[in-house]
Amino acid sequence: MKRLLQKQVVLIFISFATFLPAVSYSQSPYVPETDTNVLKKLENWQDLKFGLLMHWGPYSEWGIVESWSICPEEYPWCKRVMGSDPDNYNTYLKEYENLKLTFNPVKFNPDKWAEAAKEAGMKYVIFTTKHHDGFCMFDTKYTDYKVTDKACPFSKNPKANITKEIFKSFRNKGFWVGAYFSKPDWHSPYYWSPEFPPKDRNVNYDPEKNPALWKKFVDYTHNQVLELVGGEYGKVDILWFDGGWVQKKSKEYQKRYYAEQVDKNPGGYVYTREVNQDIKMDELVSKVREKQPGIIVVDRAVYGKNQNYLTPENKVPPKALPYPWESCIISGGGWSYTPGAKYKSGHDAIQMLVDIVAKGGNLLLNIGPSPTGEWDKGAYDLLKEYAAWMKVNSEAIYGTRALAPFKEGNICMTGKKDGSAYYFYYMAKKGENVIPPEITINSFKPGKGAKVTLLGTGKELNWEKSGKKGFKVHIPDEIRNNPPAKYVWVLKLTP
Ligand code: GLC
Repeated sequence: MKRLLQKQVVLIFISFATFLPAVSYSQSPYVPETDTNVLKKLENWQDLKFGLLMHWGPYSEWGIVESWSICPEEYPWCKRVMGSDPDNYNTYLKEYENLKLTFNPVKFNPDKWAEAAKEAGMKYVIFTTKHHDGFCMFDTKYTDYKVTDKACPFSKNPKANITKEIFKSFRNKGFWVGAYFSKPDWHSPYYWSPEFPPKDRNVNYDPEKNPALWKKFVDYTHNQVLELVGGEYGKVDILWFDGGWVQKKSKEYQKRYYAEQVDKNPGGYVYTREVNQDIKMDELVSKVREKQPGIIVVDRAVYGKNQNYLTPENKVPPKALPYPWESCIISGGGWSYTPGAKYKSGHDAIQMLVDIVAKGGNLLLNIGPSPTGEWDKGAYDLLKEYAAWMKVNSEAIYGTRALAPFKEGNICMTGKKDGSAYYFYYMAKKGENVIPPEITINSFKPGKGAKVTLLGTGKELNWEKSGKKGFKVHIPDEIRNNPPAKYVWVLKLTP
């Protein structure tokens, strides 16, 4: 009984330590969901940990940044370098749009992608059904700027409805599927009206002065999203809306936005042309959830309840965040296909996954398919690194939750959410191939009967108390010299 109690006390302590500090949501960027179906799904989504993002469209033919070169803003990613006369905007735009006439990814084989992603341990996929340029990678009936239009050579291919094929292949392999959907649409005459030249990424007219035109755009957007969730594409788990500047903006919002920009970029250029672009997201989300109850909606960078999780972009937050989140990160090159892309090393990529998981997040790793419908060898090689590591260590990834203090020196930590196991990840330095003889964790106190193993060896290891609330594990030489995996070695503690 005494032992049991002791165990319980330890468990209470540990599970208390597992939970992140309560936050006051009035100060948090996150507004929690109340729909219980969504909450349940969000909880399960947090168990998946590792997903695949793909940016693909006719822009891939030029090997340029997705969409942005047709946006008249002066950023490096908007620079026009292709076509016959990149200095002439109208010529450029025409040629960019004409990429539809040559888009023909005859090697498109989503089963192969799904297989490689599955082996790597990925559990969900998010695909660009429509990026900001407005080109639809699905068979929408609301525009002919789409892959299935007869003027696009790929329309004759049996796999022409690319979104549908990707969803089908990945779903068949047990993946959750998600649709990336850009709210801004730089092809739609209801967003960039031909009456005016486009000025920047925003709608090129004032929606408040032209409510009928704006309503056409709202309807267009809602109709397309409802096509994607309406049944033809099967069960969709996540709707990932990009283009956060398309949102309802009050005067108060504009003031806050301005202050934030000044804060982020003191003395620098502040982007101020903020137009109210009320896309009626609440209405859209309720229509979507009538079709697909519980679907996760991520209205990126838009404060409010339609952003079920937050999406730090191309970065890992410095510490654990007290709400659901996912870092979307480029694996090599840019978001879209980049000729000659250099991919992350196995060391960096695997340690990044562990770092994110230890902070309670998910990793959404991006790969950009080529114009012929292939992935670079570099992408496959990287996924093989994940596959080898996950084969040994995946139990320390799925279904875990952040465990304070998340990291101690080069050791990350998590626990299974039911408290049945705790994991301590030794992040090896580059070139470090031998496990140290002792590994000490100072911030976790195991109960008396706790068992410690190193994943991939199955052997119980000796451990002893260390300091006031720590423990030290002894690693025998035969394990030290033959580590079961590369880059990160995982101690498992069973209380
Ligand atoms: C950035 C890019 C956009 C891309 C997104 C993915 O916002 O500008 O093109 O789709 O990242 O997270």
